[in-house]
Amino acid sequence: MKNENQSFSRSLWISRGKSKVIQIIDQRFLPFREVVCDLNTPEDVIRAISNMQVRGAPLIGVTAAFGVYLTLLHFKDNPDREAHIEKTIRKIRQARPTAINLKTAVYLQLNAISGLSNYEKKIEVAFQTALKYMDTEIEACRKIGENGLPLIETLYNKNPSRPVRILTHCNAGWLATIEKGTALAPVYLAHEKNIPVHVWVDETRPRNQGTRLTAWELSQAGVSHSLITDNTGGFLMQQGKVDLVITGSDRTALNGDTANKIGTYLKALAAKDNGVPFFVALPSSSIDWSLENGDKIPIEKRDPDEVLFIEGLSASGKIEKIKIAPDKSMAENYGFDVTPGRLITGLITEKGLCKANRKGILKLFPEKSGL
Ligand code: MRU
Repeated sequence: MKNENQSFSRSLWISRGKSKVIQIIDQRFLPFREVVCDLNTPEDVIRAISNMQVRGAPLIGVTAAFGVYLTLLHFKDNPDREAHIEKTIRKIRQARPTAINLKTAVYLQLNAISGLSNYEKKIEVAFQTALKYMDTEIEACRKIGENGLPLIETLYNKNPSRPVRILTHCNAGWLATIEKGTALAPVYLAHEKNIPVHVWVDETRPRNQGTRLTAWELSQAGVSHSLITDNTGGFLMQQGKVDLVITGSDRTALNGDTANKIGTYLKALAAKDNGVPFFVALPSSSIDWSLENGDKIPIEKRDPDEVLFIEGLSASGKIEKIKIAPDKSMAENYGFDVTPGRLITGLITEKGLCKANRKGILKLFPEKSGL
């Protein structure tokens, strides 16, 4: 959806006047092309999530919530609809395994519609629930921005002669949520308030979400940033050139252990060794209340071709994939790693900041204590 400046600032929306069509920015084409894609059917949703046309834990959660609505619509006149619906919703839930947001969203929808006998009512409730969930996620990101801002302000006040230098990994901006982002929300707010910031953007191999998405977002917003290779962060920290690390989360366990894009753990280790504060910004939809620690978080493995090939814009202006490895080499492609809570300085949530441990999390979310 484009704003009055005709640039995108939102990753998913309902097609104008057509509640049956969900529109997304197809993130596979960024930063080279701005392609909007219609999601009309549950299959479109499943494909969009697994092919990473949409990605980022909060965004795939919201997409899944609309996926449940589209499923009910799609099978409305099917004589065997209950079986189809069950199977399809299971597929939506399993479209990507690591982010808990997918499951959070699907359970929310199932809870909302279970017990309703009128099918039309079910469809309407599923649509309203998805809209409400999307609004909750937008509001959570706005709050994360507000709650994280003092971290940046404090660092700036300590050293007002230069920008606050923030390192981030992967993309946890508005492309990964609906609006504003998680890790980038405090950065955008600081920028709006004229606090000088400079973002070190990890390229984030193999899919280069840093290079392709975070750098694009920051360029659009006019936020000063430099791309760095994935191996550079530790060196910059040793040089005293990183004031703060903020990343997102795909799933945080009750003890603060956090699964995020592969390579996050290495940044946390380097931050610990260099006394650099390492924060994880997340909405509560990314907390897995059923997991005491991160040992059982499923780690997505993706196609080895994502490692063996790289994609970019050719001299003739075409998006092309080229091979970068020997023909006989194999590759392993783990999508995420788990950073232990003990390496995380704190969590930035919609309810405020807390320590990355059970006590800290439950103090912010006491209603979850009895689960
Ligand atoms: O594989 P991706 O691009 O979906 O991975 C995304 C991340 O790792 C993000 O940091 C995470 O989902 C948080 S997004 C606010």
